[in-house]
Amino acid sequence: MYYSDDVIEEVRSRNDIVDVISGYVKLKRQGSSYMGLCPFHSERSPSFSVSPGRQLYYCFGCGAGGNVLTFIMEYENFTFQEALKMLADRAGIPLPEQEYSEEARRQKDLKESVREINKMAAKYFYYMLRSPQGERALKYLTDRGLSDETIRRFGLGYAGQYSDALYRYLKGKKISDQLLRESGLMQVNERQGMYDKFWNRVMFPIMDVNNKVIGFGGRVMGDGKPKYLNSPETVIFDKGRNLYGLNYARTAKKRYMLVCEGYMDVISMHQAGFTNAVASLGTALTSQHAMLLKRYTNEVILTYDSDDAGVRAALRAIPLLKEAGISTKVLHMEPYKDPDEFIKALGTEAFQERIDRAENSFLFEVSVLQKSYDMKDPDGKTRFFQAVAAKIAEFELEIERENYIEAIAGRYQISFEGLRKMVMNVLMQGVPARKIPVRQQQPRPEKEEGTLRSQRMILTWITEYPQLFDSISRYIQPEDFSDELCREVASMLYEQRKKGEINPALIINHFTDVEQQRNAARLFSTAVNVENQRELEKAVQETVYKVMEQAVARKSRELDPTDMKGLQELIEAKRRLPEIRKLHISL
Ligand code: CTP
Ligand code: MN
Repeated sequence: MYYSDDVIEEVRSRNDIVDVISGYVKLKRQGSSYMGLCPFHSERSPSFSVSPGRQLYYCFGCGAGGNVLTFIMEYENFTFQEALKMLADRAGIPLPEQEYSEEARRQKDLKESVREINKMAAKYFYYMLRSPQGERALKYLTDRGLSDETIRRFGLGYAGQYSDALYRYLKGKKISDQLLRESGLMQVNERQGMYDKFWNRVMFPIMDVNNKVIGFGGRVMGDGKPKYLNSPETVIFDKGRNLYGLNYARTAKKRYMLVCEGYMDVISMHQAGFTNAVASLGTALTSQHAMLLKRYTNEVILTYDSDDAGVRAALRAIPLLKEAGISTKVLHMEPYKDPDEFIKALGTEAFQERIDRAENSFLFEVSVLQKSYDMKDPDGKTRFFQAVAAKIAEFELEIERENYIEAIAGRYQISFEGLRKMVMNVLMQGVPARKIPVRQQQPRPEKEEGTLRSQRMILTWITEYPQLFDSISRYIQPEDFSDELCREVASMLYEQRKKGEINPALIINHFTDVEQQRNAARLFSTAVNVENQRELEKAVQETVYKVMEQAVARKSRELDPTDMKGLQELIEAKRRLPEIRKLHISL
């Protein structure tokens, strides 16, 4: 499945990054680069920069960055292959046929065929909804308050009244029974043979993030059972990894995502303007869902049904989301059952108000916990606070614990000090001494942060002012970078320089995942504020000195005392350190 580096580089270099990104983001020239509002987080003043010289982008606000391929991968949520294909098409470059193994080809063909069949089915249902047979289904949807535009946007349809209509339609398109079996749209039984899974239902196509139909939900019109039928998992449909509505929600660019239970809830919320709503597909939220959400947001507001099942679902979802690094709030829907009913009854503004008042997930958990204690009984009350103290003790940071102690004390008549003591007791008894969470520790000593920054600055300068390369490389060699990524990237830059031109965007190609590309792009975008040429010279001089000083210190720490050659080199490096102070730089 791999294209050669030459092909990748040709596609990259024939798609000018400013041209491509201008199609998505309004850019304004500013000095040697272009600035705009970052499409990967919401902001009011531009911190998203695109450098035509280096063919890279970087956001100083959220750290997104990379080359033109990274941008398309991140923005369109494409895989590397898909991004390459899109940019190759854009530049009119034919991609060579890929070599597949027998098995890989079979799987790819199967997936493509199943995708094709699901697309045909979606078109068929869509058409049926507007045919005379679909009259009742269309009325059902409009009676539920859906506008024509919403029905179209979500591709809603109707599966005809006969149980073999789709089967016959697809057979007419010469699809084999074998493929139909894989499509998830058919059922087989011994007497009847193969027949439609869905009939006489309104149909909700389920799309992946690239707007490809991967399955369906079908609802009876009225009170029949089961209320919803869903496609089974197929080669293209993995329920644990897809969320209904995410294809639209991912571009809503809100600070948070709304997560609900049902198809109709998502659709109602979108219709009311809450286009950041998604639902898991007739299954509980999984940790894969949580990780998928984390790609788009740091905050989730749960808008589950207000019944017991909804509360239980929320209690299960909260730790999974937390694990993925998402902070969660819970929206209260009472007295209505779900978002669809709420919005229909009270409207958009009231729903927005509930969003604004959504409850912190920990406080939500505590309020559920409280229901199982008799708060009028002194013993019951004590046990409740003990349970709460035990929960608070689980927070790692003291500041978190204190904040929650304060919030709980404010809510449930207990003094801050009283509850704090209970929490301390739990911490002293329950946990072995070494596990007692201590005050927040700096993730890294400050010095190390500074070291890393100096190394990044060197790489940024080399790429921004290639003229600096010779002066810098007289002192610094790739192995002098203590940070692994810096070292790796530095060797590539030095290698490029030896062969000719420095090309940072090409280096990004070496990393296939967006996270790595982002980290690499950051190395070329570490800004320093300098007013003029003189200040820049000084900054370069000082930074080169710092990096070398640290490299020398590291080498002498790690030197094997029997390594005479190493020792000599070290002495030489130490001797040359003061020279750096005289380093003359001209741009
Ligand atoms: N669901 C399902 N199978 C069922 C019932 C429900 O897969 N037999 C899933 C569907 O994804 C549904 C969600 O669970 O959208 C929530 O179910 P429920 O609350 O019962 O339905 P609503 O979403 O309120 O649907 P409606 O408003 O159409 O009654
Ligand atoms: Mn409902």
